[in-house]
Amino acid sequence: MALMPPERIWWKPLGREERLWVTIAAVWCFFMFFMLIGWYFFGAQQMPGNAVRVAPAEYQARAQAWIDENKVGEEYGVPVVRPQAGTDVYMIARQWQFTPIVELEAGKTYTLHISSIDVQHGLSIQPININAQVMPGYEFRIQITPNKAGDYSVWCNEFCSIGHHLMTGKITVR
Ligand code: CUA
Repeated sequence: MALMPPERIWWKPLGREERLWVTIAAVWCFFMFFMLIGWYFFGAQQMPGNAVRVAPAEYQARAQAWIDENKVGEEYGVPVVRPQAGTDVYMIARQWQFTPIVELEAGKTYTLHISSIDVQHGLSIQPININAQVMPGYEFRIQITPNKAGDYSVWCNEFCSIGHHLMTGKITVR
């Protein structure tokens, strides 16, 4: 005959302190869960814009045509583009560069189009801390109104293989 342990429910008796901690942890879990949903509405963290499907080759052709049309110079071999105030702005993300360098006017609203023509990249505009995913096959259209003159650096913040740390770009606001 096997020796059996005395029958017992493992979580009983639940001590007073234990009950208190479990309650606090549970309440906190629910609070955090609903904050996650609530933040969408009152966090003012959503990027104003949307995304549409696009073939990478088509996006590249459209963006390149726009770059050729609006190009005003070159910096380190990267085209510099000064678009008309209030128009569409195109940026191409690829291994390992954001092109072109864009010059915008403060106080004007632009629609920034960005897509990747190879792998997934990230768009990080510093020091204002705008962050977005840049996926091949999706064209992101973001409403931007720069309000302060200066140079803004653009960084890739999604690991995109060997040259990831070199992948930068620039937006200048005048
Ligand atoms: Cu592109 Cu990392």
